[in-house]
Amino acid sequence: MIAAASRGAASVQEKQMGNPLILVVGSTGTVGSELVKQLIEAGQNVRALARDPGKAVKTAAGTDVAIGDLSRPETLREAFVGVEKAFVLAPPVPDMEQLEANAFAAAEQAGVRHIVYLSNFGAGRFDDALFRAHGANEWRLRSLGMEWTILRPTRFMSNTPFGWASVRENGRLVEPLGGRKTILIDPRDIAAVAVKALTEPGHEGKIYELTGEALSGAEMAERLSEALARPIEFVDASEDVTRSDLLRSGLPSMIVDKVLYYFETLRADRWYETPTVRQLLDRSPGTYAEWLKENTGSTTR
Ligand SMILES: NC(=O)c1ccc[n+]([C@@H]2O[C@H](COP(=O)([O-])OP(=O)(O)OC[C@H]3O[C@@H](n4cnc5c(N)ncnc54)[C@H](OP(=O)(O)O)[C@@H]3O)[C@@H](O)[C@H]2O)c1
Repeated sequence: MIAAASRGAASVQEKQMGNPLILVVGSTGTVGSELVKQLIEAGQNVRALARDPGKAVKTAAGTDVAIGDLSRPETLREAFVGVEKAFVLAPPVPDMEQLEANAFAAAEQAGVRHIVYLSNFGAGRFDDALFRAHGANEWRLRSLGMEWTILRPTRFMSNTPFGWASVRENGRLVEPLGGRKTILIDPRDIAAVAVKALTEPGHEGKIYELTGEALSGAEMAERLSEALARPIEFVDASEDVTRSDLLRSGLPSMIVDKVLYYFETLRADRWYETPTVRQLLDRSPGTYAEWLKENTGSTTR
């Protein structure tokens, strides 16, 4: 039993050793933590970048961990040594563009061959700082001379609903959809696409717009009702009502503005579904019902 287990461990290690070293930036976050997990499961040679050693140990156990902060470029140099491929993201903070640019610069300096960049649906097209910053960094990456793949996902299921106050207190899902559907994606599918882009040939120079399931407000409320085992009613609210609901849910006002801008683009019919996830993964994208079933503990709060 022990011998078989250690033979298994040795062969996983051998497999890892023969593979190029992949650095995952954002390894403690929604997509990054899932990506680390899936890369390890696929026997890849992974290094997880984290700024908090305690968090890194929890999400990337058994992996090479590099401590570095995207806002302090001098801390990134060592993390990129020996790296052949990197997955890069930063959170949607005001200096996101600079944080990502710092990662690109460190990668370029270290001679990284291929970057997979987590951008956003609407990058460079929608008129808000977040989408402009993603657009600018897509071009920055494309001008570096290394291989690149750009992922542009829609709204994460982990971000749905944006505000929990009314769901929790009154059984009401408040979103200003104007009768439109919202197009969601399971973050695990984004990670699965990133695994492909990082480990298989043929994804260089590609921009992938990633979508999962399109749901009306009533359908989202129905899925939530089932997952929470209590009635949830959808309210197609005004922007003002949604704003106070999101603020009551504890979202900072800068994020509330971004969420309201998201709904504005949605009501202007600027989002659409693509077959990309299905084509790349050769299976149906994850559904919101499945995602809720597996994550209800962390979403009910
Ligand atoms: N949410 C959506 O619906 C959605 C939709 C489309 C695209 N996106 C894009 O997805 C990206 C965010 O991905 P995510 O939701 O997976 O991220 P996330 O969960 O917010 O996690 C952010 C990650 O970045 C790390 N990080 C933050 N600041 C750092 C710094 N200064 N140095 C090093 N690491 C740092 C965090 O580490 P700590 O754990 O230490 O904080 C964490 O690992 C954004 O660019 C956003 O525009 C999001």
